[in-house]
Amino acid sequence: MPDTRPVGWGIIGFGWVARDFAAPAIAAAGHRLVAVCDPGEAARAAAAATLPPDAIHATPEALLANPAVEAVYVATPNHLHRTAVELAAAAGKPVLCEKPMTATLAEAEAMAAAVQRSGMLYGTAFDQRHHPAHRAIRAALRDGLLGTVTTVRIVYACWLDANWSPTGEGDNWRVDPRRAGGGALMDLAPHGLDLVDFLLDEPLRDIAALTQHRVQDYAVDDGAVLLGRTASGVLATLHVAYNHPETLPRRRLEILGTRGLLVAENTMGQDAGGRVTFLDADTGEARPVPVPRPDLSPFTQQMAAFAEAVRSGESGGFSIARDLHTMRLLDRAYRAAENAACL
Ligand SMILES: NC(=O)c1ccc[n+]([C@@H]2O[C@H](COP(=O)([O-])OP(=O)(O)OC[C@H]3O[C@@H](n4cnc5c(N)ncnc54)[C@H](O)[C@@H]3O)[C@@H](O)[C@H]2O)c1
Repeated sequence: MPDTRPVGWGIIGFGWVARDFAAPAIAAAGHRLVAVCDPGEAARAAAAATLPPDAIHATPEALLANPAVEAVYVATPNHLHRTAVELAAAAGKPVLCEKPMTATLAEAEAMAAAVQRSGMLYGTAFDQRHHPAHRAIRAALRDGLLGTVTTVRIVYACWLDANWSPTGEGDNWRVDPRRAGGGALMDLAPHGLDLVDFLLDEPLRDIAALTQHRVQDYAVDDGAVLLGRTASGVLATLHVAYNHPETLPRRRLEILGTRGLLVAENTMGQDAGGRVTFLDADTGEARPVPVPRPDLSPFTQQMAAFAEAVRSGESGGFSIARDLHTMRLLDRAYRAAENAACL
């Protein structure tokens, strides 16, 4: 019989994504949030709405000493992921860490080595793998709906100005190169790169990119276009941006094959929903693609999947080697963008 007991989760970094998405998802997946750690007063006050005072900590060390914590979710700004993950792994706790793994490739490599030495389960929180529409698309590709897949085209963009804040508190670490590791490319492209790997069962191998600093007044890129190719020859384009008006369509995934085109609108993001359409290359007809359980939240499914891996002792769909490859692609994309400048 599989062990289905609820997992006790601790969260390091109780900001926007942890409060609005991860904590509700832990409960919705049938598990328990048992502790939180955050140096911010506002974050700790928010945690006090659902947790007793002795479950709210100021440091990761205090949270990790709490025996009720069986798994850890890390949602600090990017430059703090490595310390939190390494502390959790050293304390013997499986750890699910937000994307990108870290702010730099060097940190990601060091973190991966430390996690692998610890033998602990690690996952990067690529929630879009768990979106029901993306699962349906993956199944359709495996069934051969598109014939030979030639191209994946992604637009994943938003508006993020210098003063942006999802919670109305804290400063905007996303526009600080040191804490974020980059701009729109670093923040948004990881989802697309991982999704290509998930949908095709094959990662991008080759990558090129151009970045822009076009609209927003900060040091990191506010837009980028990436070009990729898998080992078998599938091409991918990703347009990511922080300078895209949100009143315009801004989340689109297309997969083109010799027999047709799959178009997913508004499926990329933290929530369930969106729609998928198939355009038949033979007839020219467009028809909706049925998505089983379209209401399922990607975040809830992600927490359920990680907890299942914790209980089973198996890696499930999580792989630190795969996630490190995605970090290498991001790093190579930035270096390609730097080298592309025509002086
Ligand atoms: N998967 C997604 O769709 C998604 C969405 C949003 C954010 N994210 C990722 O989640 C992470 C957090 O993003 P956010 O938007 O929630 O940021 P945020 O600024 O809202 O929250 C970060 C929290 O970390 C806390 N913190 C700072 N230093 C800490 C420390 N040393 N120990 C513990 N906590 C500390 C801050 O006080 C803050 O409450 C980032 O890595 C981001 O890229 C992922």
